[in-house]
Amino acid sequence: MLTLGIETSCDDTAAAVLKDNDILLSSVLSSQDQIHTRFGGVVPELASRKHLEAIVPIVQEALDRASVTLKEIDLIAVTQGPGLIGSLLVGFCYAKAISYVTRIPYIGIDHMVGHLLAVFLEEDKPEFPYIALIVSGGTSSIYLAQSHTSFSLLGRTRDDAAGEAFDKVAKLLGLPYPGGPRVSAEARAGNSAAIKFPRAWLGRSLSFHGGHVSSNLGTPDTGPSLASASDTMVADESLDFSFSGLKTAVLNHCNQSRQKDIPLQIPDICASFQEAIVDVLVEKTLHAARQHNIQTIVLGGGVSANPRLRESMLDRCQQEKKILFVPRPSFCTDNGAMIAMAGFYYARKSAPGSYDQDVYSRSQI
Ligand code: KG4
Repeated sequence: MLTLGIETSCDDTAAAVLKDNDILLSSVLSSQDQIHTRFGGVVPELASRKHLEAIVPIVQEALDRASVTLKEIDLIAVTQGPGLIGSLLVGFCYAKAISYVTRIPYIGIDHMVGHLLAVFLEEDKPEFPYIALIVSGGTSSIYLAQSHTSFSLLGRTRDDAAGEAFDKVAKLLGLPYPGGPRVSAEARAGNSAAIKFPRAWLGRSLSFHGGHVSSNLGTPDTGPSLASASDTMVADESLDFSFSGLKTAVLNHCNQSRQKDIPLQIPDICASFQEAIVDVLVEKTLHAARQHNIQTIVLGGGVSANPRLRESMLDRCQQEKKILFVPRPSFCTDNGAMIAMAGFYYARKSAPGSYDQDVYSRSQI
């Protein structure tokens, strides 16, 4: 079975051809980073226009590189949501149009499911159930995955997504979009303990001592709590995230330094900010695994390309005897291959898409 995957949820136009559920014949992507970088973020109207220009050649390139023609495709899988509505519409309408003309069935895929299944593009595949941390520019969520088509949302961000926080902090430090890779590159030369930025644990429950969490459930919930990395921390049983306070703390640090005429130590700020985000992502994911007695952890989404997150998650998983699966960086960021993979499994569960279906902006899982 040959599946053509199409992804246009944000600012990357991507397509891929997947044979069955394991042989990736092609995966191509047209990035719009150059266009959006001067605005410090994605401009939705520009993104949709660029998708319109790129969609036909990108899909053709995916077919060419796979050495197949459209007629040989058995299923078209396309991102239906969540994402920027204008961007989604380009890929979704294109997929429906070629499906209508060629009579190849199409199926709409939730972008989050794509990220949750991207790990199956790798040779080393996890067993179900697993806990997945999906962190990107639009989401920071923890899921319990029970099968290729069954997922429960355990926690999500209450404000900024982790990638959004990376991008916004990069912008206020004068670093170009997309900010995540630039912040993590600067962080390599910095000291992560230089500035004690807060971690939002959101309430009661876990004591955090120098990188290890010990259970202290039952403390009254006193609302969002912020503590520095060196302090004993309290964390909620909640698996939700909040990164807006951390972003404000970075802004305050920069403003105070400027008022005192102290030059900004960009690498130290980046390393300390990154460590604050990574601590929370890692500990909440492990907390979810303990709560549900799960041995396997999977990472996905653009932020999981972050080397410090991968390293820290691996260290903590080894300490807690959990098995970690992380797709290669190009499968962590948006791509058509993960949409094709999700299409393969959802086509077995759901009827093909009908032509009156529409895109959506909020995840359905
Ligand atoms: O999954 P993705 O490609 O697109 C969606 O948001 O769906 O993720 C993009 C996000 C951006 O916010 C980008 O800054 C972040 O992932 N990102 C990173 C890194 N690489 C990409 N964040 C931190 N460190 C990285 N190395």
